[in-house]
Amino acid sequence: MPPRVTSDVEAALAVVRRGGLVAIPTETVYGLAADASNEAAVRRIFAAKGRPADHPLIVHVAAAADLDRWAAAVPPAAAVLADACWPGPLTVVVARAPHVLDVVTGGRPSIGVRVPAHPLTTELLVRFGGGLAAPSANRFGKVSPTTAEHVVRDLGAVPGGVDLVLDGGPCPIGVESTIVDCTVEPAQVLRPGGIPTEQVTALLAGAVGAVSGPSRAPGMLASHYAPACRVVLAESVDEARRLAAAEADPLLIDDVDDLVRYARELYDLLRRADDQHRSAVVAVLPPAAGLGHAIRDRLFKAAAARAG
Ligand code: TXA
Ligand code: MG
Repeated sequence: MPPRVTSDVEAALAVVRRGGLVAIPTETVYGLAADASNEAAVRRIFAAKGRPADHPLIVHVAAAADLDRWAAAVPPAAAVLADACWPGPLTVVVARAPHVLDVVTGGRPSIGVRVPAHPLTTELLVRFGGGLAAPSANRFGKVSPTTAEHVVRDLGAVPGGVDLVLDGGPCPIGVESTIVDCTVEPAQVLRPGGIPTEQVTALLAGAVGAVSGPSRAPGMLASHYAPACRVVLAESVDEARRLAAAEADPLLIDDVDDLVRYARELYDLLRRADDQHRSAVVAVLPPAAGLGHAIRDRLFKAAAARAG
């Protein structure tokens, strides 16, 4: 049965409470959410995505005050970042509280927590009162969904894939959260995302020292975020046009003037290339600054998927 698509938070709450899977809108991408305290429900997430069981999930909570419930201890770096960036596209990795299920963290001693900024999901979290474990709502290795329609197309036909899609419109940021490991000193950026790395560095510089990285979050493979068609990268608009001219039917992404728009539209464009059976995506790499870090990271991963 195709999932119900609705903006009715009450209906989503009922599904969460009975251990079902709800796709939730966030400011970054849609997540595939289950009650983080219900082991059977969380297991269903891995089955729906086809995701290896040792890849940890992010727990989404209503407010920064909830971090205490999921963390064994909140280091200064996590407190500073939570205070400055939540609700928003930032995930902190901290030591996990004793009650946290192994299935959520992949058996790790740490947990990723974030407070998403989307009115429907905030309402759902407030009314639920607990945490929602949620990876991005795509099949494993594929491009993250930024609309309800993307979710339905990815998971709608998967048996047990998703029970209800909470439709909150297109995601305004369009790339995933920045993940900062606060269990090490200095804190480390594991994945560049919606909060620019420079902002994390600036926030932590005074309080707890510099950020190093980027390194890799567990389960972040070199190839990820990939459309089915080839992705060819260029350092400049001129180079992109040259490369595109050699392709049979390319989809060209060459507007690097507005990085907010680039991030917001990127995953939809990658999906569109497949829908239109394009021979390749040719994309200009934006400068490595601000949102450019996250866009470059996702483009490199999309391109690497076909390298091997
Ligand atoms: O914006 C986002 O972060 C979206 C929305 C739905 O919140 N979520 C998302 O989840 O991108 P996912 O599962 O696709 O990516 C989460 C990443 C994974 O690479 C995982 O390895 C890392 O977070 N992660 C989660 N818990 C961790 C932990 N305890 N230690 C290190 N990395 C962790
Ligand atoms: Mg993902």
